[in-house]
Amino acid sequence: MAKRVEIVIVDDNLELLESLELYFREKGYGVATADNGEAGLLLIKERQPQIAIVDLRLPGISGLELLQALKLEGIECRTVVITAYQEMETTVQAIKLGAFDYLHKPIDIDLLDAVIDKALSDIPETESIKVVDEGFKENTIVGRSHELKEIFKIIGLLSEVKTTVLIAGESGTGKELVARALHFHSSSAGEPFIALNCSAIVENLLESELFGHEQGSFTGAVATKKGKFEIAGSGTLFLDEISELPLHLQAKILRFMQEREFERVGGNRKIKFNARIIAATNRDLGQMVSQGEFREDLYFRLKVFEIDIPPLRKRKEDIPLLVEYLVKKINRTTGKKIRRIPMAAIERFIEHDWPGNIRELENVLTRAVVLSKDDCLHETNVVNLLRQPQTPQSPALQLKSLSEIEAQHISHVLDYCQWNISQAARILEITRPTLRNKIKALNLACEGS
Ligand SMILES: Nc1ncnc2c1ncn2[C@@H]1O[C@H](COP(=O)(O)OP(=O)(O)OP(=O)(O)O)[C@@H](O)[C@H]1O
Ligand SMILES: [Mg+2]
Repeated sequence: MAKRVEIVIVDDNLELLESLELYFREKGYGVATADNGEAGLLLIKERQPQIAIVDLRLPGISGLELLQALKLEGIECRTVVITAYQEMETTVQAIKLGAFDYLHKPIDIDLLDAVIDKALSDIPETESIKVVDEGFKENTIVGRSHELKEIFKIIGLLSEVKTTVLIAGESGTGKELVARALHFHSSSAGEPFIALNCSAIVENLLESELFGHEQGSFTGAVATKKGKFEIAGSGTLFLDEISELPLHLQAKILRFMQEREFERVGGNRKIKFNARIIAATNRDLGQMVSQGEFREDLYFRLKVFEIDIPPLRKRKEDIPLLVEYLVKKINRTTGKKIRRIPMAAIERFIEHDWPGNIRELENVLTRAVVLSKDDCLHETNVVNLLRQPQTPQSPALQLKSLSEIEAQHISHVLDYCQWNISQAARILEITRPTLRNKIKALNLACEGS
């Protein structure tokens, strides 16, 4: 796997040396320093850093001589030289000797950062993943871990057998994606895929929503309406978050699964149910059964075939492929054009624990892509984003009003997009006029204006 960013700093000003060292360590870089040319050259040869920051005026061998030695020995390290204004001649020479860029003293840390980011994005392709947007296919399950390969196999096996499937996995692991893959790889791919979120069922509308109704069967039933079970035809009925189904509704679903036929509300004609049922849960149904919170008979009926999707932290080898795929996806939705992801950034993703799994990875990547100022997903941006808490859990925040949370979130997105309304509206999945109205209603203002 890729090396983390290593920097060697060579300067005889010890104060500057120390503050730069602290600064880069804080950023998570590996840093080594030397206060003279000889020691600096040795360090660079020994550590082979990606970046060296070298003062041109040094005791012993000068910065120029150091550059010359690096060039002679073919050491590939991007050097940023530090010069004084009056040293124009030597600066030109340094660039001729292969220095990547130069900075004048006193050092402007933001400029130095920008130069280093540029130098890092200049690393050869072997040290970064190249993103090519062509050939992107939506709803692809990406991964190369043993666990995912097993899931690919099961999807293949179940393509011809229409058994009920229970998909279990933590939030954001890709349960719905797998359910869709099961459907779209089956011989019923041309039939409907109907999703029903069991946590969002409005109870008194349930029967009519699921079974449909005949005209005039109750007040408001002005026309005959097909329910989800009927619309599913011979396709797939996806019962998402099945654990959230209240106990008495569990009984109804169980009866229907046993009989595999139903009547519209107010109707007396039996309608056959031919679709495959796929259920998903992010809670341990077995445990819920033992605690009396889920019906055992329904559990066994659903669990004819079970697919467990392991959390991302247990299959980290999937991360490089996922990052590449998701960046392509985000390039499309945000209109950005990230072309390179340094392996150092990938390594940071691998180190992270991902409690929110692939959905969290996708969110962090969206922010990183939106924040990027060039075509590279710099490690520095990634480090900063991973440091921020992803899901604010403090009770104080939970007690805020909906409009406060909405205002906070919209401001956050707007700041990331530098108040590009079109881009922010795309990310928020609302129209531009809606966003403009919200900005007005919530009194949002660009920071600093
Ligand atoms: N292996 C994968 N390859 C590519 N994208 C993936 C993969 N797994 C998940 N995703 C993406 O991550 C996001 C979350 O996936 P999905 O909605 O299927 O998760 P889920 O398990 O249903 O989550 P929840 O329990 O929160 O409903 C989606 O955008 C999905 O496309
Ligand atoms: Mg889901």
